[in-house]
Amino acid sequence: MVKIAPSILSANFACLGQEVSEICQQGADFVHFDVMDGHFVSNLSFGPMVLKSVKPYITVPVDVHLMMTNPEKYIEAFIAAGANRLTIHQEIDEDVTSLLQQIRALGAKAGLCIKPSTEAEKIIPYLDFLDLVLIMTVEPGFGGQAFMEDKLSKITQVKELIGTRNIDIEVDGGINLQTAPAVVHAGADVLIAGNYIFKAQDRKEAIQLLKEIK
Ligand code: DX5
Ligand code: ZN
Repeated sequence: MVKIAPSILSANFACLGQEVSEICQQGADFVHFDVMDGHFVSNLSFGPMVLKSVKPYITVPVDVHLMMTNPEKYIEAFIAAGANRLTIHQEIDEDVTSLLQQIRALGAKAGLCIKPSTEAEKIIPYLDFLDLVLIMTVEPGFGGQAFMEDKLSKITQVKELIGTRNIDIEVDGGINLQTAPAVVHAGADVLIAGNYIFKAQDRKEAIQLLKEIK
């Protein structure tokens, strides 16, 4: 069954502890934290202090997506604050392999994210250092954007490249009940959804409906 990771970017920050606590009870498999540095993406969101404050309210693994130019400065802080899965971007101008090794050495699962314009093949050099690949189906930076249909084939390509390795495929951006079935059929293991879940009248039902996709 596909796993669901609600993105708190669409939650109510005025009561974030309550929001994450409820979303865990409502069936979330992970809680997804979108960290934006105002540089790699134009938007700014939050840092490790916010994660540390709400971590006691979270009963599932925390999935942190670092949309940052210099993640090496914050890897340790995010893992100390409670990140269980930590994903960096392939497009940064850094030694990605050593950052992935550092994440694992600190006890978290290591992830690599590719933007819509980045080819699937770019993950090849890192396959031995990865626990998950995060495929963006919107331009990173904002919640609530439209799903890019033409990225479906990239999910299939990534799945082929992964082969029999134990690496999860997460898909992020524009996921809802209309777009998710093709994403699941293409091979996604985890669906990240912000607006669709947090703006739903019934969040528990929204999560359940995504999980039921076969
Ligand atoms: C975009 C973020 C996503 C986003 C998803 O930069 O990485 O996680 O919050 O939001 P929706 O599901 O609303 O597209
Ligand atoms: Zn994200």
